[in-house]
Amino acid sequence: MADINTCLRSYESLFFQELSEVNTAQELELFRTKHLSRHGELSKLMQQLKDLSLEEKKTAGPLLNVLKVKVSDAFTQREKEFEQMRIDHQNMLLTHFDVTAYKPVQPTGSLHPYTQVIEIIEDIFVSMGFEIVDGPEVETDYYNFEALNIPKDHPARDMQDTFWLTLPGLLMRTHTSPVEIHAMRDRKPPLAIVVPGRAYRNESTDASHDFMFMQLEGLFIDKNVSLAQLFATMKTFLQTFFEKKNIAIKIRPSYFPFVEPGVEIDMSCPFCTHGCSVCKKTKWIEIGGAGLCHPVVLKAGGIDPKEYGGFAFGFGLTRLVMLKYGITDIRLLHSNKIDFLKQF
Ligand code: DAH
Repeated sequence: MADINTCLRSYESLFFQELSEVNTAQELELFRTKHLSRHGELSKLMQQLKDLSLEEKKTAGPLLNVLKVKVSDAFTQREKEFEQMRIDHQNMLLTHFDVTAYKPVQPTGSLHPYTQVIEIIEDIFVSMGFEIVDGPEVETDYYNFEALNIPKDHPARDMQDTFWLTLPGLLMRTHTSPVEIHAMRDRKPPLAIVVPGRAYRNESTDASHDFMFMQLEGLFIDKNVSLAQLFATMKTFLQTFFEKKNIAIKIRPSYFPFVEPGVEIDMSCPFCTHGCSVCKKTKWIEIGGAGLCHPVVLKAGGIDPKEYGGFAFGFGLTRLVMLKYGITDIRLLHSNKIDFLKQF
């Protein structure tokens, strides 16, 4: 008899202990299943009553009934509390709906200046019949140098400080020119492509240099290609890009292993007539290199140099973006600072 009494008391304290630890409606439901359902703890206690003697039943029965009423009342009370909490929360949500908390105008992003300029450039070249082409930024020694007539011991390799990867023979492309080779191999002449893309050079950073920058490569292959076609294309592009009909170009002889002859192209300053800070008072701005494709390069691209010729050019796309938007520090363009980018 002492046993059943102890048993009831310890169950009661367990029940109240666990009920006090219930924090959510879900937990309350789990608690109900554990204790008050048909196969719950309380029912199990009732079952034990059956095994007692008549004498014991007389004392334990009423005790059990008292316990049953006590625990079900406590449970109902707790249930009501949770229901009230739910209603209070609901009301709070409704009464505290603050319409002014929502900003009617959400801040919207804008396209990066690079993206904007690339879209303009692509439109211009597409209107001249060029195709936009992409290429890998991780290149092999062969595509970046060898195929472009820059063999291993060639001094031209010194012009480009290369980021070599730890994997042998692989590098971050130092210019977009290797895409010329990919494009020639993937297509049949005649072809006309432009490649806006990133290039990497292992050099220290200042206002006009960064270890990553963008170039715009161009390649045109056909029969009887001349320098005149190259210059006309350059001039048309620059005039359309800067929206100035009177932009002139100036050609200086230069050397790039992948073209012969090679030239450097300057354009008349689109921002002044007498010299300004952009053109450093020279009235001319350097735009990039160009020339007629070297037969070695055509061969590397699988094109017969006896049948076809071509022109190629490589512009500083980063420079074009900086000129177009008057950005004086390349690091700003690459910094991804919202305050700076918001202007565009
Ligand atoms: N790849 C050269 C560089 O990075 C630029 C260049 C010069 C590209 C002349 C050309 C070209 O296609 O014909 O400095």
